[in-house]
Amino acid sequence: MNAILEAQTTATAPLFLRALNGENTRTAPIWIMRQAGRYLPEYMALKARSSFWEMVRSPELTAEVTLQPIRRFGLDAAIVFSDIMTPLPPMGVKIEFNPGPIIENPIRTKTQIDALRIPEEGEIAPFLEQAISLIRSELSSSDTPLIGFGGAPLTLATYLIQGSNSKDYEEFRAFLRLEPAATHALLEKLTEVSIRYLRAQVKAGAQAIQLFDSWAGLHDELTYREFALPYNRKVLAALEDLNVPRIYLAIGCSHLYPVIAQLPAEAFSVDWRLPLNTIRPIFGTRTLQGNLDPSVLLASKDTITLEATRVLKSGLGGAHVFNLGHGISRFTNPDHVAHLVEVVRDFDRHEIQNLM
Ligand code: CP3
Repeated sequence: MNAILEAQTTATAPLFLRALNGENTRTAPIWIMRQAGRYLPEYMALKARSSFWEMVRSPELTAEVTLQPIRRFGLDAAIVFSDIMTPLPPMGVKIEFNPGPIIENPIRTKTQIDALRIPEEGEIAPFLEQAISLIRSELSSSDTPLIGFGGAPLTLATYLIQGSNSKDYEEFRAFLRLEPAATHALLEKLTEVSIRYLRAQVKAGAQAIQLFDSWAGLHDELTYREFALPYNRKVLAALEDLNVPRIYLAIGCSHLYPVIAQLPAEAFSVDWRLPLNTIRPIFGTRTLQGNLDPSVLLASKDTITLEATRVLKSGLGGAHVFNLGHGISRFTNPDHVAHLVEVVRDFDRHEIQNLM
């Protein structure tokens, strides 16, 4: 592409994609982790009629639920409504949701790992690919980008071995110590399936990818280096040729950021434990996403204004995508989300940077 054409394309690209590409934008784009879900009455109305899997496996319902928060709040990005567990049933794993994932037969032996299938790319989630193209056509008028996502291999393994949500995932951590070779064999398979799952989403039209490593923070640095880093690197590198920005999310990982910074990603989503300006030097010129504590949205609008402004100020000095540090609480008042969006939109980053 010639320079003039490239400059034009950049200037007209959606705010969210510009920020992911490292631009220090005048306003920070905002989207919200788990923006479609149980805090929205319109989601609950659909949920009363369908199970979670029915919603995820119906392209029409997926599209509808994905668009609900966009219509209500006009956010800067949509995230396709699905789950990190979606690619696992085609591997031969039975999963129910109540509301978190429950694995019928948790993986606790090498024999079970050997029995897991590696499905073809198009076989993993054809319903999701259809949903993505439906959503893209609905979003074309507003030019709102669509995010695809998947779970990082170690986080998927955590659920597969533990079997359900847990406070400290003891079964999983015991397995990792007792059966390191089997754990690596499982991670290898999950890496391959994750690559196929994410590539299928991009080919169907997802314009950015977020890799959720929600449970990476359970581990010390050496364990992360052995069981997470190489697999995350492989998944992210396998998307390189598709030219979509890659966001890596880890929770409770303040002690791991210097290692996480080695990953090939354009942006890093961080939780609320450290301010963005403390984290920024670790990631150099790459984009930071975050990092309002989701519990702030349960407080008054004044508190939301105060805390969100604090995050915005801390995010100055580099590219910033505003988000929560983790998923939104089901007890959030939707009006508080609308207020948050207003605060972020009203914050002129260039003007405030000049005053500081
Ligand atoms: O629209 C969007 O924002 C997409 C939403 C989304 C869901 N799951 C929908 C969902 C996303 C990004 C995910 C990813 C996911 N799923 C992660 C990574 C993100 C994170 O929070 O760290 C994880 C760990 C899972 C596994 C999972 N699925 C859990 C822990 C739960 C229970 C969540 C809860 O609210 O208690 C689920 C089920 C799930 N996934 C729901 C939703 C809306 C709740 C289903 C319901 O309505 O009952």
